[in-house]
Amino acid sequence: MVINIGFNKKKLGVAVIGSGRIGTHRARLAALHSAVTYLVVGDINEEAAKKLADLTNASRYSTDALSLINDPRVDVVIVSTPEDAHAFSVEAAINAGKSVLVEKPLALTIEDGDRLANLAREKGVDLRIGYSQRFLQKYFVARDEISRGKIGPILGGMTRVYNTRTNMLAILKRCPEATPILDIITYNVDYIGWCLGPDVVPVEVQAMGYGTVFRDQGYDVDDISLTMVKYSTGAVFSFDICYALPGGFPTTGQSVRMEIMGRDGVVLIDDDHRDQILYTEHGYENAYAKDQKLNLAFLGSRSSGEWADGQMFGRIADETREWLDSQSTGAKCHLTTAEEARQTLKVTLAMGVASETGQPIPLANI
Ligand SMILES: NC(=O)c1ccc[n+]([C@@H]2O[C@H](COP(=O)([O-])OP(=O)(O)OC[C@H]3O[C@@H](n4cnc5c(N)ncnc54)[C@H](O)[C@@H]3O)[C@@H](O)[C@H]2O)c1
Repeated sequence: MVINIGFNKKKLGVAVIGSGRIGTHRARLAALHSAVTYLVVGDINEEAAKKLADLTNASRYSTDALSLINDPRVDVVIVSTPEDAHAFSVEAAINAGKSVLVEKPLALTIEDGDRLANLAREKGVDLRIGYSQRFLQKYFVARDEISRGKIGPILGGMTRVYNTRTNMLAILKRCPEATPILDIITYNVDYIGWCLGPDVVPVEVQAMGYGTVFRDQGYDVDDISLTMVKYSTGAVFSFDICYALPGGFPTTGQSVRMEIMGRDGVVLIDDDHRDQILYTEHGYENAYAKDQKLNLAFLGSRSSGEWADGQMFGRIADETREWLDSQSTGAKCHLTTAEEARQTLKVTLAMGVASETGQPIPLANI
């Protein structure tokens, strides 16, 4: 591969809408990026926007997302609001003709997903979705080997992800419609779709679930969901989740296992984080529950990544840098496209229906 020093490196003005956990990572990374010469941040909570503006030395902050998105000095927009608020800012940015990076999932309904994907295509706007799991080295490199035929045609496999009920309750508080399937299994559906390639489509979904932990807290959400997808090649994958582990379990983010079987090989990814332990008498902070202090922690299990001495490591860091690089230079961008995200949304919505009805859901004309 050619490293092109001749890239025209464009300066960028960036707006970050949503100044919470992920918006803060994105804005801090943008502030450190050499192409970014103008940064504005927003939030419906003025205090949150001001705090992030102070932290990043942003040029301005506002509670009015439209004033930031339509600022003529802003070239590209990052939407890091809760799931149910994505559509508003994404649509405004597309209408302003500005490239968008929005957090996953693209939307929570097929109608919104279709509308945003179609609008971006019509307006010729580059709309990307932050399925950051792609950007963990172990997944990115495995997919590269798969795309070069190293395991042959994919037969199928399994993915499963654990996390604590503490974190899931924080997610449900942020957005009660963000179920473990729509909000978390979505990463693995995106990743397997990426490995299978653009010509392979999901054709059928089956699912079962059970739960009492979240129902006891007032959320009609299963604690454990076991789901399966059949693809157009005949490949079959299971996508399982339990985000109801007791709060003291040492993970502070996704603990993942992934196994992909091919005709000529296999990829096994251990992403449980059990290889990196911290025991402390002074408490390890959970990003989702600041008042929770673990004594025993899987270090590195914070899904989005880690800040250490002013630098960020991990998936959000690599993803944000690649997106800003590609916006500045035109270099290849590996973030999920609107069309891929729309397809993933349909699969995860169908998993919810399959689980409720106990019936297989065909995905014709997806
Ligand atoms: N890629 C990853 O690793 C990863 C990890 C966690 C969350 N996420 C995604 O990031 C998004 C945000 O999650 P979070 O954990 O940062 O949530 P958060 O609650 O910490 O932050 C969201 C912020 O958006 C603000 N907000 C709400 N509605 C708004 C609106 N209409 N306009 C402007 N601001 C608004 C809130 O006040 C809050 O400050 C979600 O879509 C989530 O799925 C991605």
